[in-house]
Amino acid sequence: MLKLLLLVLTVPVHPSQLYDGTNFSKALGAPRGTCRALYWPTLGSVQPLPHAALDAFDVIITDDVQKVPWLAAQGKFYFLENRDFALGDLSRELAQLKEAAPLEWRREGMSVLLPASANTPWLRQAEEDVKVLMPASYFMDDGTFITRNRAFANFTFSALLLLDQDPGIPPQSLIDCIAHGTVPIIVGKHHKLDYTRYFSFALAKFRDFSVEQAISFMLTAPADALYVYANSVKIVQEFFYMRYKHPFQQRLRRHADMACHALRSPQPPLAFVSIYSAKRNFGRRLALRDTWLPLLKTHGIPYRFFLAGTAVDDTELDSLLRRERDYFDDMVFLVGTTDEYPIGKKGLAALLWVAHHSDAQFWLKFDDDLYVRPQLVLSRLAGIQRAELYWGAFDYSGMVIRDASDPHYTPPEIWPEPVFPPYARGAALAMSMDLVRLIAHQEEHRPLKKIKVEDVSYGFYLWQLIFDREVTSLTLYDRDEVHFAMDAKCCTEETHPNNCWLPLTAETWIVHHVSPNIIRCMFAKDIASGFYLPAELETRQLQGLLLEMAEYDHTVESAAGSVQGGQVGSGHPADLCGCVVTPPPHPGKPLQRGRLTELSTGPRLHS
Ligand SMILES: *[C@@H]1O[C@H](CO)[C@@H](O)[C@H](O)[C@H]1NC(C)=O
Ligand SMILES: *[C@@H]1O[C@H](CO)[C@@H](O)[C@H](O)[C@H]1NC(C)=O
Repeated sequence: MLKLLLLVLTVPVHPSQLYDGTNFSKALGAPRGTCRALYWPTLGSVQPLPHAALDAFDVIITDDVQKVPWLAAQGKFYFLENRDFALGDLSRELAQLKEAAPLEWRREGMSVLLPASANTPWLRQAEEDVKVLMPASYFMDDGTFITRNRAFANFTFSALLLLDQDPGIPPQSLIDCIAHGTVPIIVGKHHKLDYTRYFSFALAKFRDFSVEQAISFMLTAPADALYVYANSVKIVQEFFYMRYKHPFQQRLRRHADMACHALRSPQPPLAFVSIYSAKRNFGRRLALRDTWLPLLKTHGIPYRFFLAGTAVDDTELDSLLRRERDYFDDMVFLVGTTDEYPIGKKGLAALLWVAHHSDAQFWLKFDDDLYVRPQLVLSRLAGIQRAELYWGAFDYSGMVIRDASDPHYTPPEIWPEPVFPPYARGAALAMSMDLVRLIAHQEEHRPLKKIKVEDVSYGFYLWQLIFDREVTSLTLYDRDEVHFAMDAKCCTEETHPNNCWLPLTAETWIVHHVSPNIIRCMFAKDIASGFYLPAELETRQLQGLLLEMAEYDHTVESAAGSVQGGQVGSGHPADLCGCVVTPPPHPGKPLQRGRLTELSTGPRLHS
């Protein structure tokens, strides 16, 4: 009896009931209770989704892109696919070996993977030709890993002539190819080319296929191109490895639970927003409160500024901060943390706070020097998977600092590689709340290894959860990078060669490194363009609390005078170039760095 009771007690309580093709009919017509989720994959499923399922289920999880795009959530539909990443850690080793191999070897390393039956004239022609011209490097696919391992392991490129016959988004053969660090050659109009931001750099596209053409491509591709392929393949490899790391049934369960969590009544907010702010940044906080922060409220999104802890002895600054909090009621002081860079400790404290205090679907973290267009960011979050998600502008080549006197120092025992694991740059990032809670849970039971740099540390915690503790998978949602203006200026590669990394454009959602004056200017432009409608107009004097704040931060002055509020409108986002100063180009002197960084031994990701 006791045994039974214990058993019952340890069964995890799920907010969802999960069905699949074997038992979905049990749910049809049954009375409604808890949230019901149906898993209905295209692969391995003989029948199309039954019509009755649309009514009977609250959540439908599928890899059918006719119903819901890759990584997306739309209505009841959530995208999730079951694929193998069979090589595991060996995949990184292989990619590394290939990259380090002599150029000549790489140029010769092309294989061709043919479908089991050549069902079109061009495939029959290709089959005949490879038998003659490449007798040692063509393979007939039988769907087994062994065949694919032979086709990919010792080759740098592989023409995947079987793709039209290998269903699924993404096809398993494509994953197998990338897992081997092999660059896929894709022929014709392949269905889908942006699995991640770097996918299109990690494959060679041919309009049509001939063996001669393929060989000549290999022999004449510039060394630079081979380098880009090799690096992009490593990034894409890591993407898929992380996405498929955890056993599928557990991933499915988590995705179903999180999708069902989003449907609770009353509905949990889409996101909880944390804005990291240093104590003296009064002007920035006021600028945000006067511009885009009120829009979050319109969307039902709670937010807080996160600051270092105050001292209870009566220092003037801390008492002014307490009064600021009492007035605006939107600040959290994290006891035991400081504002001194790098603020890894503060970042963890904020994350733990959110894990314990918010029931939102996502955690959204911003710096306090941003101009944000909230509805554009929120509509992205509303349209993507609710679990295992890490969103932002990613750095795949963050350099580790080994100088022990540097505040950013990371000891080799903590992280031995010269490059950090992928992380979303700290200005603006999001995580699905399952991950926030998982980090908190792990940290509280068995502390995680720490890196001092705040944004890197989130990537590192997640890395530990995936690879050291094996408690989750992760999807690096890096496809929105163009919507980040990391440098608040207006330029193009033509006007500012090699000096125009993520500038302001018509597609910008988030602008980094902007002062209170610029934030106010941008907001006014968005009101003028009808993107926002004018709301209350307030006229203020520089007196009282404002005057006291201005003693610490002169940018507080921008909060005096007449301040025009705004609310959600229906016009287009404004052109923001008039608010920023775009310095002249610096030919031959690249100032920014992004993406891949080169070491003396060549570019490297962690291996
Ligand atoms: C439906 O069947 C699957 C196994 O195929 C099982 O995991 C799941 O719990 C079943 N769902 C219900 C509600 O019985
Ligand atoms: C790759 O090449 C090595 C050395 O030639 C060989 O020993 C190995 O069996 C090959 N691997 C596969 C999968 O064909």
